[in-house]
Amino acid sequence: MSKTIIISNRLPVQLQISDGGLTATPSVGGLATGMKSVHSGGESLWIGWSGLTEEDTPADLESEIDKALAKHGCAKVNLTANEIDGFYFGFSNRTIWPLFHYFLEYTEFELDFWNVYKSVNQKFADAIIEQSNEDDTIWVHDYQLMLVPQMVREKRPNTSIGFFLHIPFPSYEIFRTMPWREEVLEGLLGSDLIGFHTYDYERHFLSSVRRLLGLEVSFNDVYQDHRVIKVDSFPMGIDYKKFRDAAIAHGKNAPENRSDFQIKLDDHKASAPDTKLIISIDRLDYSKGIAKRINAFEYFLNKYPQYKEKVRLIILAVPSRSNVPQYQLLKKEIDELVGRINGELSTVNWTPIWYFYRSMPFENLIDLYTSSDIAWLTPLRDGMNLVAKEYIATRIDKTGVLILSEMAGSAYEMNEALLINPNNFEQQADTLKQAITMPKEEQMARNMFLQNRLERYNVEVWANEFMNALNQKSEGDDTFVSQ
Ligand code: ADP
Ligand code: G6P
Repeated sequence: MSKTIIISNRLPVQLQISDGGLTATPSVGGLATGMKSVHSGGESLWIGWSGLTEEDTPADLESEIDKALAKHGCAKVNLTANEIDGFYFGFSNRTIWPLFHYFLEYTEFELDFWNVYKSVNQKFADAIIEQSNEDDTIWVHDYQLMLVPQMVREKRPNTSIGFFLHIPFPSYEIFRTMPWREEVLEGLLGSDLIGFHTYDYERHFLSSVRRLLGLEVSFNDVYQDHRVIKVDSFPMGIDYKKFRDAAIAHGKNAPENRSDFQIKLDDHKASAPDTKLIISIDRLDYSKGIAKRINAFEYFLNKYPQYKEKVRLIILAVPSRSNVPQYQLLKKEIDELVGRINGELSTVNWTPIWYFYRSMPFENLIDLYTSSDIAWLTPLRDGMNLVAKEYIATRIDKTGVLILSEMAGSAYEMNEALLINPNNFEQQADTLKQAITMPKEEQMARNMFLQNRLERYNVEVWANEFMNALNQKSEGDDTFVSQ
């Protein structure tokens, strides 16, 4: 029987070795949380990196690791510490990530990184060939594996291959600065279908294909040799029911079953019923605009001092890619900013910012989503931003205000949110005031539209639409014969 092979660098779980035993923790990030819901149907095999290096893995644990992953329908690609350095911390996160998020000044073009990226992509392609049959469907995910489609195509010319990019595809002017731009495009074009979150990313990609490879592009088809490659946008949804049900269950929790975190949030509400809670949740990443958001919060408190002691900003920043220097610098910057602002503005009754630098269990995420009055998400550039969608899904009584950056892919589908430019402090201060004073009826009216849309276009529909488009593509006879 044919199956779907999902392939990404990050698996839905990360393995760690502690006290000689194995532990598995859920992965953070839009790709893992979104695809986990698709994969849980049990019809697919998910291939990726386990989170362990070869050097850290004692030979006698190998089969235990395979078994632990098999429980989640996963299989691993082994990577050495050197490969993780060059491929993951190097080319993926010091070259592609900053470049595709328009941080040219952080982008490093290192030949060594590129060479390791190529060889690790080949490892992933080999793992696919080894673990799949000709009639399986291959679905490759994200910027870490952009060469894989072409590498698989070389060995399996007739296999159906889809690729989805979870981050922005930058404009041609940015993309063309990369020394290996043609190879990356060729790698992606090994697919039958290439998907992006938004029409803009799709357009940028097609423009680069036309201008850098000189290929014919018509509407959203690319003509290459004797093949036609389809390119389209599929905005990723969330597992709406999962978040909604979790929020409903959370509301029914008996007081004695509340988490410690929820107790703290409830105590806060009880002691300061007029204080508005504003949450911001992201991986600690410069693309998320966390430092700017903190500065904008200070600006807001100075512009509208009547809200001192009346608002609290809770920042949850999940540790991410901490071997990359820019992430270390950002961590330091945020620590200092929070320390300075709290030091300057706190009173005996009030600390303006609560800052958590850690990964939290799912229950605490729901605690935060449901206890807050406002979610304030200000990425400077974000492929989608699923946190915005998850926040809305958990608002059972339809109250709550979402302030969202226009630079997030999700803003295209969330017009009823308060959309802001994260670089405009004046606008953000006014928007925070608007959010704080927004009547409940208006909040509910806005959220009703948002919830309906998110419920309809959930992650399952997203995956089905992608797979249907890929299947149609494979079934249709669209072989192109050049003149
Ligand atoms: P990105 O993919 O860039 O990290 P997204 O907002 O698209 O950004 O996705 C982040 C995902 O990570 C969301 O699905 C969110 O639920 C999850 N997440 C964020 N913070 C935490 C946390 N502290 N613990 C567990 N999951 C988290
Ligand atoms: C984003 C990327 C994913 C990545 C995730 C977490 O969502 O699109 O590919 O898995 O961030 O980052 P990490 O580097 O921890 O995998």
